[in-house]
Amino acid sequence: MFCDAGTGSSKLLIKGGTVVNAHHQQIADVYVEDGVIVAVNPNIRVVDDVTVIDAFGKYVMPGGIDPHTHLEFDVGFTATVDDFFSGQAAALAGGTTMHIDFVIPLNGSLTAGFEDYEKKAKKSCMDYGFHMVITKWDETVSREMELMVKEKGINSFKFFMAYKGILMINDELLLEGFKKCKSLGALAMVHAENGDAVYEGQEKMIELGITGPEGHALSRPSVVEGEATGRAIHLADFVNTPLYVVHVMSIDAMEEIAKARKSGQKVIGEPIASGLALDESWLWHPDFEIAAKQVPSLVSIYVMSPPIRKRGHDKALQAALSTGILQLVGTDHCAFNSTQKARGIDDFRKIPNGVNGIEERMHLVWDIMVESGQITPSDYVRLTSTECARIFNIYPKKGAILPGSDADIIILNPNSSFEISAKSHHSRLDTNVYEGRTGKGKIEVTIAGGRVVWENDELKVTPGSGRYIQMPPFSYLFDGLDKKDAIYLNSLQAPVKRAKASS
Ligand code: URP
Ligand code: ZN
Ligand code: ZN
Ligand code: ZN
Repeated sequence: MFCDAGTGSSKLLIKGGTVVNAHHQQIADVYVEDGVIVAVNPNIRVVDDVTVIDAFGKYVMPGGIDPHTHLEFDVGFTATVDDFFSGQAAALAGGTTMHIDFVIPLNGSLTAGFEDYEKKAKKSCMDYGFHMVITKWDETVSREMELMVKEKGINSFKFFMAYKGILMINDELLLEGFKKCKSLGALAMVHAENGDAVYEGQEKMIELGITGPEGHALSRPSVVEGEATGRAIHLADFVNTPLYVVHVMSIDAMEEIAKARKSGQKVIGEPIASGLALDESWLWHPDFEIAAKQVPSLVSIYVMSPPIRKRGHDKALQAALSTGILQLVGTDHCAFNSTQKARGIDDFRKIPNGVNGIEERMHLVWDIMVESGQITPSDYVRLTSTECARIFNIYPKKGAILPGSDADIIILNPNSSFEISAKSHHSRLDTNVYEGRTGKGKIEVTIAGGRVVWENDELKVTPGSGRYIQMPPFSYLFDGLDKKDAIYLNSLQAPVKRAKASS
């Protein structure tokens, strides 16, 4: 249920909960004033007008930060149904208090794209940041990247290695982009699928008459994701710049990341909620008759890129997350309703790609990872909030329950449970890829910027209350890169001398 009021007092005292940070947990009270955490101590005493929230027996944790969303994303023929208000309201109801969305350049202009997203985000009810997508290369793009970093608070750029003819870039552009990112201290991100191979796979499926949504999964198998992931990693190594691989959906991609990290390369891998929680069994009913009658428009709600994989990839991604091979969880929330999805009823290539998750991520990760014993509550905080804040250089303003941090806080009751349904969710979607799913652990309270916005299953959100969070360049991922560069340059001294002597 929605209400449009904020809360009364700007002073909050959260009493007696287990306060969890990424490396430590303790039973303590948390005192908040004017949107900022002032104190974290056992038995805090307050005298005046303070709203007290009882958290005994519950976990008090930093609000989730979703590193990967697409709100009000215009894909040309249609746009996602969740905008910066409805998507964020849904996020808050699920314990996420900040997200980072992808700005798409407008007519090739990064500045125009940024201004377009600034307008879209005016109705925000929670804090947000931006990544910028790079779709072409020239001097203007290069200059605009600099402007984005130095004046607009953007510290990451995404390159699509798929979506041929639309967003896809080639290796030459990838190299130029990586070099520019490095010089600006900005993080290079990749959507890693081999777009040429995907195109080839799609043609093959259509030739074979496989036009239904299963054609989507069949046309872009995990090898295609693994190849592009490996290629991006090797090129980032060549340039010596850190790399962030978005939506890691397969063992193939995960193993490329594992190999690179083992060799000391700075590569971040982001699995998303759907990759951890779902598998492609919805595509393949064992009874052919039933499978043939499956309603394509229903099945197409699961269509996203890279595709949700066969059973086994989900468990492997969970294990990689629990052992540090992968570092944080996103959603890639990109919401198209069943009417929009039905566009591809006769041709899977026309189905708009994307699934929901912004509201479900925090519950799913708790249930799948903590309740199964794969990670601790502290790990949970790291994977859903702190690591994202560190990577995008906004820690400890975000991602921590510490004095001076923003008061973005959730209270999770481990003895309660959640149930997911399109009937009760807060997204504008008419479907939910997690429909009917239940699990342990319920986020009972969300506090964003010091305001209680979710309590007693009720949202109290105000359009315009969310703030744009500027993200400075040169995060910890850039520490030591100059030393590695110096060693490399040093190793070139002898060949340079030889070249000079012989010229
Ligand atoms: O299918 C997806 N993932 N849609 C959103 C755009 C992207 O590739 O991240
Ligand atoms: Zn992508
Ligand atoms: Zn390789
Ligand atoms: Zn995405």
